[in-house]
Amino acid sequence: MIPWDPPGTIRSSWGLLFLLLAPLSCQRCPAPCECSEAARTVKCVQKELVSIPAGIPKYTRNLFITGNQITCVGSQDLQELSNLVTLSLANNRINTVASQAFSALQSLRYLDLSHNHLASIHPTAFSARNNSIRELNLSHSLYNSSAVRSLAAAFAEGGFQNLSRLDLPSNGIVYLPLGMLSGLSRLEHLDLRNNSLVDIKKSTFAGLDLKYLDLTLNAFKTLRSEALSALERQPNLRLFLKDNPFVCNCDIEDLLSWMNQSQQVADVEKLYCVFPHDMKNASLVKLAGSDLECHSSQHGENALQTSYAALGVVLGIIGVIFLFVLYLNRKGIKLWINSLRDTCQNLMEEYQYRYEIESERHITQVSTLDV
Ligand SMILES: *[C@@H]1O[C@H](CO)[C@@H](O)[C@H](O)[C@H]1NC(C)=O
Ligand SMILES: *[C@@H]1O[C@H](CO)[C@@H](O)[C@H](O)[C@H]1NC(C)=O
Ligand SMILES: *[C@@H]1O[C@H](CO)[C@@H](O)[C@H](O)[C@H]1NC(C)=O
Ligand SMILES: *[C@@H]1O[C@H](CO)[C@@H](O)[C@H](O)[C@H]1NC(C)=O
Ligand SMILES: *[C@@H]1O[C@H](CO)[C@@H](O)[C@H](O)[C@H]1NC(C)=O
Ligand SMILES: *[C@@H]1O[C@H](CO)[C@@H](O)[C@H](O)[C@H]1NC(C)=O
Ligand SMILES: *[C@@H]1O[C@H](CO)[C@@H](O)[C@H](O)[C@H]1NC(C)=O
Repeated sequence: MIPWDPPGTIRSSWGLLFLLLAPLSCQRCPAPCECSEAARTVKCVQKELVSIPAGIPKYTRNLFITGNQITCVGSQDLQELSNLVTLSLANNRINTVASQAFSALQSLRYLDLSHNHLASIHPTAFSARNNSIRELNLSHSLYNSSAVRSLAAAFAEGGFQNLSRLDLPSNGIVYLPLGMLSGLSRLEHLDLRNNSLVDIKKSTFAGLDLKYLDLTLNAFKTLRSEALSALERQPNLRLFLKDNPFVCNCDIEDLLSWMNQSQQVADVEKLYCVFPHDMKNASLVKLAGSDLECHSSQHGENALQTSYAALGVVLGIIGVIFLFVLYLNRKGIKLWINSLRDTCQNLMEEYQYRYEIESERHITQVSTLDV
């Protein structure tokens, strides 16, 4: 702790005047904090604070209010601190960030909000113009997976034109809202470790030139062709994928062949199948295309479609052959039809003959009875 320690001369005769002026000059240190004007640093670490203390000196460039019980960053809490470069509010219980909370911090470069319970970040919490933040640490800081929408709205409003590093690990994120990253044109380093992502969309990284993307410990079973082409459009990217639950059926073929020719996956040796059971722990990089037997009967829906098509073709061929045989035997068939007709005719005549005989007999009988 560097307490307020005015020089002796002032303390003696000018003491009263200085005491009157001191609050105006804002050079005092809030009671629970440690201030170093030489280092332009203020620390309020583990002081059981429930709000951001008032009276933080204006000279402060580095402010650490960590390990407290702060629940809210209000609109006025940081208004005066235009010299702040580094601000850490890590390890608090912040659930609400109010409108304009960070907008006056025109020199801010590093903002650490890790280990909080952010549920609501006001869309205008950050300055839309002159937003100077370069690194934003939101490790383990979202209250639940819904809070990412609040963050996306703040990104959309906040003009983060200089943000180059974004840490979002351990937030339970299931999907990235559409266009969430598209305003972050300088973003190079994106850490999404230990979330629950299952997919990358065509637009997810559109407009970015990422250099580092960490997707380890997520829920990817594979990366489909849409995801792969989204990654291909990041030519300088190093990608990390280990500890995802890869399912080594035919859906992983695209990923395997892409990995075979792409240099982007930095931890390619550490990727393993978790399913199906007989493939468990098989190394993805060693899986040859033939192991999956995707072009035989295994190919799920495709196989079914293929077999329907094959059945159609076979039936068609049988039909054509049948017609052809008919055509070849047309004379025999004519003969056969003729003989059939003759037989029928004979039969009919025979029936007619018998009928006539019968009816004649009947008539004879009836006429005898009439008599
Ligand atoms: C942006 O920054 C420039 C110079 O740094 C300043 O003149 C201007 O007033 C700022 N604009 C806003 C909206 O803060
Ligand atoms: C963004 O970074 C550039 C280059 O480092 C710098 O010149 C510019 O002032 C920064 N913008 C803001 C708003 O801080
Ligand atoms: C972000 O915060 C986490 C947790 O507090 C910490 O481990 C990590 O080093 C921080 N990252 C950066 C870039 O400061
Ligand atoms: C996240 O928390 C908010 C506020 O408690 C709640 O309304 C929302 O349903 C939660 N979302 C999820 C996915 O649990
Ligand atoms: C992963 O994130 C969860 C919260 O979503 C956290 O509880 C857990 O400790 C994290 N695991 C690792 C290995 O960081
Ligand atoms: C897979 O590897 C893990 C540890 O690397 C091991 O505990 C497990 O028994 C292995 N499973 C199979 C099916 O080989
Ligand atoms: C990977 O590429 C090599 C040559 O570059 C090729 O021989 C091999 O068949 C490919 N494997 C797969 C699974 O595509």
